[in-house]
Amino acid sequence: MFTLRINDTTHSVDVPPDMPLLWIIRDVAGLTGTKFGCGVAACGACTIHLGGQPIRSCVTPVSAVADKPITTIKAIGATPAGAKVQMAWLDLEVVQCGYCQSGQIMSAAALLAGLRDTGRHALVSRKELSRRHCPGAGRYPQPRVTWVKQRAALGLL
Ligand code: FES
Repeated sequence: MFTLRINDTTHSVDVPPDMPLLWIIRDVAGLTGTKFGCGVAACGACTIHLGGQPIRSCVTPVSAVADKPITTIKAIGATPAGAKVQMAWLDLEVVQCGYCQSGQIMSAAALLAGLRDTGRHALVSRKELSRRHCPGAGRYPQPRVTWVKQRAALGLL
């Protein structure tokens, strides 16, 4: 039995310790905004925040959570960084097919929050800023996603 704090709500779950957090978020807590893409920590569609850090929930076992709070796309808009990223997403009409957007937003919000906390603006590489999540990214250029992440990195959101 594990007790998890997801988006400020407590969930007691009776699951195997190696069950990926993604399935608890989606199937037990019913928070289907967090998506399954690759299942091998490659695409980022399943990105959530665990204790304020972005993680790939598809490869994170529930036993690794401990007492850290979990934030999903459902609640990221309540954080200052998440609210700014979501507004930028809407203003710039970033969404393409839409499937990976929750993971993209969670990644950008963590980037923005982390940079503001640590002042790492100058240390973020172009490669990090343009990291792609979507399996279709090879077919669809993502200039808007990159632009929002660049603005987040520079503290301009
Ligand atoms: S589903 Fe987790 S990284 Fe792709």
